[in-house]
Amino acid sequence: MIALPEPADLPMTLADALRSRRSRYSYRPLSRQDLGTLLHHAVGVQRHVPPHVLGMNPTAGGLPSLRVHVVVDGKVFEYLREPHALCETGSAELTGVFAQEEFARRAHTVLVLTGRMGPGLAKYGPRHYRTVHLDAGVAVQNLYLVGAALDLRCCAVAGFADDAVKALVRGGEEDVPLVLFVVG
Ligand SMILES: Cc1cc2nc3c(=O)[nH]c(=O)nc-3n(C[C@H](O)[C@H](O)[C@H](O)COP(=O)(O)O)c2cc1C
Repeated sequence: MIALPEPADLPMTLADALRSRRSRYSYRPLSRQDLGTLLHHAVGVQRHVPPHVLGMNPTAGGLPSLRVHVVVDGKVFEYLREPHALCETGSAELTGVFAQEEFARRAHTVLVLTGRMGPGLAKYGPRHYRTVHLDAGVAVQNLYLVGAALDLRCCAVAGFADDAVKALVRGGEEDVPLVLFVVG
């Protein structure tokens, strides 16, 4: 387990982040400080309402429907929003993951959002198959806006090979690849 640094404050207003946000296609390595600040403000814990742990990103029913994986330095980690840390889950091979191979060449850090289907299916039944995509969209917009506020280059990516992403994050039947987010 790798503890992430205390998140920094965001040095930009929401209005400025909305105005300056763009999708960008060249990237720099991300410092651990920026990675931790991005993850905390976009998809970290906001508050506790027992039995729920609620995120900066709302999800349907406040359920823990998403997993956030971080691919960096040839390794794959899962982001644990509590205790704000990375847990190593495997080694990374980005070849064959992206429909646009240039992402694999240019990316230093890739976030992978997968759906954790169990809790949502138990509560909502099959409608969770669409709801989980809304949860991912909310999280992606948070990532874009916090990324903009930190002056990071970001791009959401829906063009990926599902099986390659599943292999990357070692996901089982429960883990549905939803979206990638290249940042740095
Ligand atoms: C859900 C989502 C998926 C996207 N997938 C891709 C993708 O696979 N490849 C790509 O080059 N851009 C992708 N983009 C970036 C969009 O093309 C981009 O947001 C759009 O052209 C508007 O540009 P802007 O983000 O700079 O405002 C995606 C954006 C979103 C929100």
